[in-house]
Amino acid sequence: MASADIGVYGLGTMGSALALNLAGKGFTVTVTNREIDWIAPFMAEAEELSARIVPQQTLAGFVAELKTPRVILFMIPSGAPMDAMIDAVTPLLSEGDTIIDGGNADFHDTRRRAQAMADTGLHYVGMGVSGGEAGARTGPSMMVGGTDHSWQQLRPMVEAIAARYRGAPCVAHLGPDGAGHFVKTVHNGIEYADMQMIAEIYGLLRDGDHWDAPRIGALFAHWNEGPLESFLTAISARALMALDAETGQPMVDVIADRAGQKGTGRWTVIEALKLGQSASTIEGAVAARAWSAEAEARRMAETLYGPETGPLNLSEETLESALMAGRILSHAQGFRVLDAASDLYDWSLDPARIAEIWRAGCIIRSALLDDLAAAFRSDPPQGHLVLSDGIAARLAVAIPALRQTVAAAVTAGLPVPALSGGLQWYDSLTRARGTANLIQAQRDFFGHHGFERIGAEGTFHGKWG
Ligand code: 6PG
Repeated sequence: MASADIGVYGLGTMGSALALNLAGKGFTVTVTNREIDWIAPFMAEAEELSARIVPQQTLAGFVAELKTPRVILFMIPSGAPMDAMIDAVTPLLSEGDTIIDGGNADFHDTRRRAQAMADTGLHYVGMGVSGGEAGARTGPSMMVGGTDHSWQQLRPMVEAIAARYRGAPCVAHLGPDGAGHFVKTVHNGIEYADMQMIAEIYGLLRDGDHWDAPRIGALFAHWNEGPLESFLTAISARALMALDAETGQPMVDVIADRAGQKGTGRWTVIEALKLGQSASTIEGAVAARAWSAEAEARRMAETLYGPETGPLNLSEETLESALMAGRILSHAQGFRVLDAASDLYDWSLDPARIAEIWRAGCIIRSALLDDLAAAFRSDPPQGHLVLSDGIAARLAVAIPALRQTVAAAVTAGLPVPALSGGLQWYDSLTRARGTANLIQAQRDFFGHHGFERIGAEGTFHGKWG
């Protein structure tokens, strides 16, 4: 007899944590895994929650355990494994059933799969889940795409397990097909930018002012009590203050300076460019991770050119404000990309709602997001966050500090790709007359591409001689 409200396929870190969270909220969960020997250890870990968890060894048994219409959450690697899983499971399903992909999937795949399933009576949901293992276990932020039918099925369960911000669950149905996964991708892009900008400030203090890691950590912990309060500020402070048990040195000093990436930050940049947008803070962060991988070339170049580093002479308050400006600008860029995608794919994304569900549970949760939600509720002109009065007032204070910081870093020879990318965007955006008139002239000069003329309709050509 079918007993389960939901099935969780995939008992890796995130799948296990979500299954336990669901069981803890009173739902009956059936679980299974490709490698069936993962199931027994998971059941042992579930302890008293195992009373509401029904393990199944086969896909057929797993599907049969679900009440209809069924809801199955897949927490498996994205890409080809998900396509193979869809092929395997769909013959076992019936009309009205919903498959959820809770991984960090490419939203193009999600759109393709949702469209392929559209005429079958089955429903495909791409759901971004943020917050890491702890979030998944105790309250993630979730960004749901897909049909209204699926949302009605899922809603009681995801609202029960989500993080809460002043009592409101941090989960929303954001739009059809790939909307949820796209919003999660941009969330991750902002995550990359924020991590990078924090690391850039760390680099300025370490290499410019020769502060040791615990001192920088203590400063970040202090900032975390003010407007910069966020999960990423807090964990950076703790990471910088942690000591290595083996050597007694700061942990960060025994960690290699090479950061990997699974791809969502890069996807954000690629999609931004395809949408005619620029997310220069995120691009700076993705590029910095790429350069970090070239450790040997950096070592040789340092020997060849020497590290050109001079003193910074920036106050702690200036650095704090600069980071705040960078954080506002990276969010403004991310939301601009969301707006452009919403137009192209006809998703009707609600930026205020997105800011609201990012206020708790997810990796980029911060005090700032509540202000951004309010700014979007006030309906900024053309959806541009930087044009909202509240944000403009904050940038008016923070931009001079960002400018001072980037200028000092450039003069001292210290890299700040994300912070400077944000400033370049701001400086371009705040000039009513830019320099693309010369670009138009150049294009017409060498390629007869034509240009628009001020105060006239149509395309014109110059007599360039
Ligand atoms: C989250 C995170 C998570 C992501 C990691 C690692 O919201 O919980 O974004 O989904 O997988 O942050 O991402 P990278 O390996 O690309 O840094």
